[in-house]
Amino acid sequence: MLSKIYSAGISGVDGYQVTVECDVRDRLASFEIVGLPDTAVKEAKERIHTAIDNSGINFPDASIVINMAPADTKKIGTAFDLAMLIGILRSSGYIHPAVSFEDKCFLGELSLSGGIRSVRGVLCMVLALKEKGIKEIYVPAANAKEASVVSGVNVYGVENVRQLIEHLNGKKKINITEFDPELLKVKNDGANKLDFCDVKGQARAKRAMEIAAAGGHNLLLIGPPGTGKSMLAKRLPTILPDMTFDEAVEVTKIYSIAGMLGDGVSLITNRPIRSPHHTMSSAALAGGGAIPVPGEISLSHNGVLFLDELPEFSKQVTEVLRQPLEDGEITITRANGKFRFPCSFMLLCAMNPCKCGYRGHPTHKCTCKEEDVKKYLARISGPLLDRIDIQVEMPSLTKEEISGMSVGESSETIKKRVNEARAFSAPRFKNNGIYSNAKMTPNQIKKYCVLTPEAEKMLGEAFESIGLSARGYDRILKVARTIADLDKSEEITSVHMGEAIQLRTLDRKYI
Ligand SMILES: Nc1ncnc2c1ncn2[C@@H]1O[C@H](COP(=O)(O)OP(=O)(O)O)[C@@H](O)[C@H]1O
Ligand SMILES: [Mg+2]
Ligand SMILES: [Zn+2]
Repeated sequence: MLSKIYSAGISGVDGYQVTVECDVRDRLASFEIVGLPDTAVKEAKERIHTAIDNSGINFPDASIVINMAPADTKKIGTAFDLAMLIGILRSSGYIHPAVSFEDKCFLGELSLSGGIRSVRGVLCMVLALKEKGIKEIYVPAANAKEASVVSGVNVYGVENVRQLIEHLNGKKKINITEFDPELLKVKNDGANKLDFCDVKGQARAKRAMEIAAAGGHNLLLIGPPGTGKSMLAKRLPTILPDMTFDEAVEVTKIYSIAGMLGDGVSLITNRPIRSPHHTMSSAALAGGGAIPVPGEISLSHNGVLFLDELPEFSKQVTEVLRQPLEDGEITITRANGKFRFPCSFMLLCAMNPCKCGYRGHPTHKCTCKEEDVKKYLARISGPLLDRIDIQVEMPSLTKEEISGMSVGESSETIKKRVNEARAFSAPRFKNNGIYSNAKMTPNQIKKYCVLTPEAEKMLGEAFESIGLSARGYDRILKVARTIADLDKSEEITSVHMGEAIQLRTLDRKYI
């Protein structure tokens, strides 16, 4: 008897439906799978055979042929195991003939004992299956909550083969896993205990971070060791606007595919921050591998990519960032197709002002020669620097100074202002396909950055005196726009402009 069972696979961050056809005939016993790579077939066969045996079912003494469609797509992973097993049991009479498989789908890896193991990318697959009209999705119990994030489909978490057969035959039903609204809450544990109020002083850097968060600007912090650069960077996600449900789903899809959702996490509601080490390869940054997996830039999607000690990163690595910073997505090409991964992130970088770290320090002597300082700065890729809207210096503070300072504003207070500024700018971008000032096109900059005559004059003078590049000019306008938004002003005044110019430290001092 021939049966047709649905399963799903993954390409990039998108799932696609897979049809598993299974034919079981009363002939000399054989077991063949077509439509899968060789090694995977061998392993799948063994898992299916043993799982059936160990579930107390006699493996059919018959000729079995399984075909997976579409044939032209390379099917990767172990999530098809369960659908193949159900196909065999269906075709050999272990499942009641009245059970329809038209709107059901099965995802899961088999263990030899007949248990169902969790698989990667469940959320992506369920989203795709819903589009195909699937109504019931059977997933590993460990993935059930993740799958329940998708509304409009019934999700069943399955522990083992026996339990699933009893459910399908109507003997003992498995409960539907309902969506738990608790999942939507921003988690206030672990890394998120971090708060801006822990960082004392450094008012300019904090203000720069607030502006960066409000406008989605890329930011560079410059200062000697021990001034709190890394400390501040880790806290940036705590003042970014809350993610929308759709943003949270986008992030969760990426982490699900990377197998990085973590125990008990079904929906990621906190904006991610990634801080890869400077020894990281370009592939680890961009994503790659024979079966492409998301890289650091995609794991930072909707969050922050933090490059600490920027000059230590090789140019080869930072060059990789150029295209993603413009496009917000990356395409990885392989023989078997193109894989798209979203990567729209805020870039945050930190660096010392020179190699020894103490240039401009009030008490500690800098031991670098002038040409060394130039060399050190030249290590940073120019095109990358061009894409950083805000650069700010952080002065060093003595231990006594730090301990004498009062506790700063909390992340919650700052985040409230950030949210208000975003809300103020939102009507401008409605139906424009952008969400923040940093993403404005040159035309939008012309349209939305209306300067008072004083602000205009100030910008002209700065242009003359510090020799701004044309690109620097647009960046100052965007940052000034955000500063005005924080002030809830449609017009950009000289006060806003003055602050924006101050935030281009590198233009003024170093280059
Ligand atoms: N502004 C500050 N407020 C409170 N503690 C600070 C501050 N700056 C530095 N520290 C302390 O110094 C340590 C090192 O700071 P860190 O952020 O790693 O410096 P950097 O990255 O600039 O070298 C922190 O863990 C913290 O204990
Ligand atoms: Mg540091
Ligand atoms: Zn130095």
